[in-house]
Amino acid sequence: MNNYLEVAKQIAKEAGLLLENRVTDEFQVEQKKNVFDLVTEMDLASEKLIKKQIKKHFPEHQIIGEEGVSDGTDNLEALFDHIADIPFAWIVDPIDGTTNYVNGLHSYTVSIALVSYGKILIGVIYNPSLDEMFWAEKGKGAFLNGNSIHINPTEKLNESVISTGFPTDIEGARKYVLQGISQLGIVARNIRVLGSAALHCAYVAAGKLNAYWEIGINVWDVAAGVLIVKEAGGNVIDTLGNPYQLSTRNLICSNGKIDQELVTQLKKAQATGF
Ligand code: IPD
Ligand code: CA
Ligand code: CA
Ligand code: CA
Repeated sequence: MNNYLEVAKQIAKEAGLLLENRVTDEFQVEQKKNVFDLVTEMDLASEKLIKKQIKKHFPEHQIIGEEGVSDGTDNLEALFDHIADIPFAWIVDPIDGTTNYVNGLHSYTVSIALVSYGKILIGVIYNPSLDEMFWAEKGKGAFLNGNSIHINPTEKLNESVISTGFPTDIEGARKYVLQGISQLGIVARNIRVLGSAALHCAYVAAGKLNAYWEIGINVWDVAAGVLIVKEAGGNVIDTLGNPYQLSTRNLICSNGKIDQELVTQLKKAQATGF
């Protein structure tokens, strides 16, 4: 019996406690690609702790953490080319929701996934401020703090609360998200933007949201969430309706009932613009 899941939960909790203890402190904040794209000393501290603990338990496993990927595109393309040959790769977002963290908002998460030969085996998302631990193991269902969770099966968009995020690429991805909001905002019951992709996925799995979509997402934002949503009975596709792959950047995580309608609405949004 492996103990990947228990170790992942333990590490996510440890990182979460480190973060929660400092959320209202002064800490160093720097810009990455632009003024919208931030990294703090706490992102780095959390990633360091997580990597150290994974290495301690599983020294032979590979680890991909957001803050360790220096040039996103090049490194990731190489990774996706051979991920199907890697026995174990951990994919880590040490703080998902850095902007919230910087502003002292308590909606941020630690997200850890284990991928084996290209398949997501384990997904763990920890929301420290509410002590919410979400997890899933492939084929074994999805859980929140030990209780089984399930998607909300509404089939109607006008009864659905849909979430999204604002990517840091203003001219590209964020523009498409805004177009999507202008379309979905008039057909869905409501729209929410909580500031953490992983938390959105976890809440879709728990039936608190009916769907989450975003343009330009990275694998560390959603790898754990994708498994948790699927294990809770949901579906994950790209915005053209194709099945999710680790390289998918434009994502729809949903209850599996409204996803085709979302594909249609998002296509309409792009065609009409605003
Ligand atoms: C971001 C958050 C945000 C989403 C962005 C992500 P980060 O991750 O998940 O909700 O809209 O696209 O980059 O940078 O805080 O880990
Ligand atoms: Ca980031
Ligand atoms: Ca993230
Ligand atoms: Ca992050």
